[in-house]
Amino acid sequence: MKLFLVVLFSFSFLTAEPITPIPLTIKADIQKVKLGKKLFHDPILSADNTISCASCHDIKNGGDDGLKFAFGINGAEGDINSPTVLNSVYNFRQFWNGRAKDLAHQAEGPVENPIEMGESFKPIVQKLKSSNYNAEFNKIYSDGVNKKNIVDAIAEFEKTLITPNSPFDKYLRGDTTAITQDQKDGYKLFKDNGCIACHHGINIGGNHYNKFGVMKDAKSKRLGRFEVTQNESDKFFFKVPSLRNVEMTAPYLHDGRYDKLEDVVKFMARYQLGRIITQEEIDKIVSFLNSLNGEIPESMRKQ
Ligand code: HEC
Ligand code: HEC
Repeated sequence: MKLFLVVLFSFSFLTAEPITPIPLTIKADIQKVKLGKKLFHDPILSADNTISCASCHDIKNGGDDGLKFAFGINGAEGDINSPTVLNSVYNFRQFWNGRAKDLAHQAEGPVENPIEMGESFKPIVQKLKSSNYNAEFNKIYSDGVNKKNIVDAIAEFEKTLITPNSPFDKYLRGDTTAITQDQKDGYKLFKDNGCIACHHGINIGGNHYNKFGVMKDAKSKRLGRFEVTQNESDKFFFKVPSLRNVEMTAPYLHDGRYDKLEDVVKFMARYQLGRIITQEEIDKIVSFLNSLNGEIPESMRKQ
């Protein structure tokens, strides 16, 4: 009877929360993951063999590049901030404007983007076929090296880039000592102020589009979802970003306009919610956000 009550209690504890923990493991095809991991880190996918996916998505350092805008081949500068690849498997769409429906479709983008990797798939397939990769692909895929299989392997690897066991997830699972009192207060403020209305679910974001600048013009140069749909009502709507590991992914926002998390929190309160919050509240929310750093993905820990 006692055990039954405990189970019931922890179950309701979990379901009552608008944020759910990252699972401890995820199912993936090990062979494809190994191949995808190699491709992800290999500059062979770029036109001049200088840039890999990892150049802009450093998995052990937040899964992004730490820059306002990314640099691609020939030093070309982009005009949008690199998001993290960590936990991206849980995003409902990929890219700030959601133009890719999943990770495999996403992976086609940077390779063919002239200012990122600047390559088309035809020469890449040739390069891979005349390297050791040819045998590896043939072992896994009956149709060998082709575009579909290249992005399939990369997507399978990216699937494994989950960061479980953040202090906050441990707290959600019932360990009440996993986070500090300030972090608990910060979580309450995050909910009470309405941040949770947009940042919720397993990725604390990543599950819908919302307007950047709800209460006040955010002076965004990019038009967000409108760039894809041309619908007036989609202007300035961006995929709400995940806040997992956010401490490690500065600079922030799609245009990288802020370096400090406290400035973003203040901005979000003002521009998304029309609220002026105190420095103490900002500090506590930042402290809560810092409890969202998870573990380095398992596929990156073992070689
Ligand atoms: C030159 C830097 C650069 C390189 C190289 C690069 N990316 Fe990106 N990546 C970006 C930028 C910038 C964005 C955001 C673009 C946008 O939203 O319009 C992005 C977006 C993404 C996203 C979407 C994440 C999200 O939350 O929407 C994933 C996943 C991703 N990249 C994976 C990859 C993979 C896989 C490769 C290699 C095939 C790669 N990237 C190569 C800069 C780069
Ligand atoms: C109405 C929806 C909405 C609300 C409410 C909201 N946000 Fe956001 N948040 C967004 C969107 C959309 C973005 C991305 C904006 C962009 O860069 O275009 C974002 C971005 C962020 C970022 C930057 C993430 C990154 O990787 O660049 C942080 C941090 C953040 N929000 C925290 C908060 C906090 C804290 C609150 C409450 C004070 C809050 N948000 C309230 C929609 C919202």
